[in-house]
Amino acid sequence: MVKIGVLVSGGGTNLQALLDAQARGELGPGEIALVVSNRKAAYALERARNAGVKTAVLSKVMEPDPAKYDEKLCGILAENGVEMLALAGFLGIVGEKVLAAYPERIVNIHPALIPSFCGKGFYGLRVHEAVLARGCKVTGATAHLVTAGVDEGPILLQKAVEVREGDTPEILQRRVMEQAEWEILPRAVRKIAETIEEEKRK
Ligand code: GAR
Repeated sequence: MVKIGVLVSGGGTNLQALLDAQARGELGPGEIALVVSNRKAAYALERARNAGVKTAVLSKVMEPDPAKYDEKLCGILAENGVEMLALAGFLGIVGEKVLAAYPERIVNIHPALIPSFCGKGFYGLRVHEAVLARGCKVTGATAHLVTAGVDEGPILLQKAVEVREGDTPEILQRRVMEQAEWEILPRAVRKIAETIEEEKRK
């Protein structure tokens, strides 16, 4: 098995998609071993507990220094034997120690078709507000590898979603989640888990 760590900040619907995929046997050799939140009130933590998955909280309040935060997060992941990471609505920054510990082993889900509507400041509802303000007719989601630049890592999977007349940012966000994010994040996670499993066999 390949131990997956999931980093979260909010509602955790993408975490739920991963948990559901695992329950259906769709994560291949991947096994969700730990969920870490940078917000102690994140509902995602509840979802993890309900599924019997171990949780941890590491917030900016608990560790305001970014370098120490990075080090502590690295420690928590190592202690739990985490071999790869999924950022599932994680709105923190992944520091250089974590990046170095998991090269090509961290996947992020972004709620737009990268390179559109990505990078600094584009997260959550803001992305969908910008898509609607620009009058786009198509948007979607992207699963990509995480590197030092925000939303700049290699693209693994993308799926397009139609923008409809009368959409609000909330309605569009929900459609992008249902039709794209919850489908491609588990597929991307499985892909990386399979690569790790293959490497172990060599
Ligand atoms: C998701 O739409 C995710 O794509 C987005 O935040 C939401 C979290 O929802 N992530 C970003 O904007 C990252 N730049 P969730 O907590 O219900 O999965």
